[in-house]
Amino acid sequence: MQTDSSFTFVLFGGTGDLSMRKILPALYEAHRAGMLSEQGKIVAVARLEADLNGYLQWVEENVREHVSKKGLDETCWKSFLQRFEYLHMDLGKPEDFAMLRDAIAGQAGIRVFYLATGPSLFVPICRALASVGLNQNARIVLEKPLGYDLRSSNAINDAVGEIFAEEQIYRIDHYLGKEPVQNLLALRFGNALFEPLWRREWVESIQITIAEELGVEGRGDFYDNTGALRDMVQNHLLQLLSIVAMEPPHSMDSDSVRDEKLRVLRALKPIDPRDISKIAVRGQYHAGVIKGTSVPAYATEHGVKPDSSTETFVALKVEIENWRWSGVPFFLRTGKRLADRVAEIVVNFRAVPHSALGPTALRPGSNRLVIRLQPNETIRLYCLAKQPGEGMNLSSVHLDLAFDQFFKEGQMEAYQRLLLDVIHGRLALFVRRDEQEAAWTWVEPILNEWKAANKPPKPYASGTWGPAAASAMLAQHGTCWLEEEN
Ligand code: BG6
Repeated sequence: MQTDSSFTFVLFGGTGDLSMRKILPALYEAHRAGMLSEQGKIVAVARLEADLNGYLQWVEENVREHVSKKGLDETCWKSFLQRFEYLHMDLGKPEDFAMLRDAIAGQAGIRVFYLATGPSLFVPICRALASVGLNQNARIVLEKPLGYDLRSSNAINDAVGEIFAEEQIYRIDHYLGKEPVQNLLALRFGNALFEPLWRREWVESIQITIAEELGVEGRGDFYDNTGALRDMVQNHLLQLLSIVAMEPPHSMDSDSVRDEKLRVLRALKPIDPRDISKIAVRGQYHAGVIKGTSVPAYATEHGVKPDSSTETFVALKVEIENWRWSGVPFFLRTGKRLADRVAEIVVNFRAVPHSALGPTALRPGSNRLVIRLQPNETIRLYCLAKQPGEGMNLSSVHLDLAFDQFFKEGQMEAYQRLLLDVIHGRLALFVRRDEQEAAWTWVEPILNEWKAANKPPKPYASGTWGPAAASAMLAQHGTCWLEEEN
């Protein structure tokens, strides 16, 4: 699908890790698929003292390998590189922004400024762009982390909001761009089958897990000041929760979807500090073995303080105070160095009210819908069936919907979808300011309470599913984390 929307894509942080691993490979994929206007330009901005050739050499050395994972077409790669311009800029110098303005002056179409930089640069860059008039006819993309708490996130949003209107601001949460998250919307709102069951009368509990095998991967400095609650819960997990729990939107336009998500975030049961030990578990990984490979403890990672009490694991019990979900626990869990890399949502339906077929039918989790986001995107529906032979013995069976078997091509990485959305001005998959505020407002009492309690996180061995307390929390509700063995 060739597009005519011309654009200038200005990438601040053009030599950073994110540009190398995600942004530039995603732009290449969009280019290869013919989804970018032929006139579209990419202007990389960085501190690297180089001319265009020097920068392209850096791209060859650092981006090519990430692109190659999906197979690189040499002709496409060459034509992709022709889209580039490079500007070596000192972001502290106003005259360098005048140089940027002049460099892109003749280019038609929308301007996208992608800030793949640390958050401390967001406001200075926006102000400098405005000082040379570059906030007109432009979109600004802000990467996470957007602040450290409610106050700092509001400060960034206030300052950016003085320069760009909310419709010009694209706050990235890359989980929203993942194909299966889109599919969750299709499953819920494109089928009449599940929606009648998608409520407290039929749902016992919901689990949302984002488990990683990776550790902090050279980001020890950043991570040690952040922790899993800020890094994963405040954004990705709460965004997934809001999509699972939202009411059907009137349409798929940006504000209809975001209004419904906001309602969920505002309906989260406020945290009562007295309950914190019952509804929240924080852990930190120790040395261990993941799939046969020994890995070190968090506290010995580069950039991490040896006596760090930063959490690398969080499990939470969350409730939503509205008619649809009242009393249904949502269990959220995320952690680094866990036993497997998996992101999934488990909708755990209630058991039959009375079983004439023996106790198996009364077991929790017998009917459940598992939406696996990664790896191997699938939707799996578990039911009970009679075992063949004599007698009436039930056992668990499942129906699998494996998307890669139905759709052989056309899959899109999250960043590719999101970057195309920015270029085309589609805001639905970006976090609106009020959503972000609602998420921070809910999360902050947990952070405050943890800080006040000043207790170390619970240790867990790398390669396990986190501290035992996370399982104990579910056991209190007569359930367990499902799917760990699959
Ligand atoms: C990022 C976090 O937002 O998401 C990382 O900062 C984390 O710590 C990553 O590893 C996980 O994303 P994905 O797409 O690999 O599951």
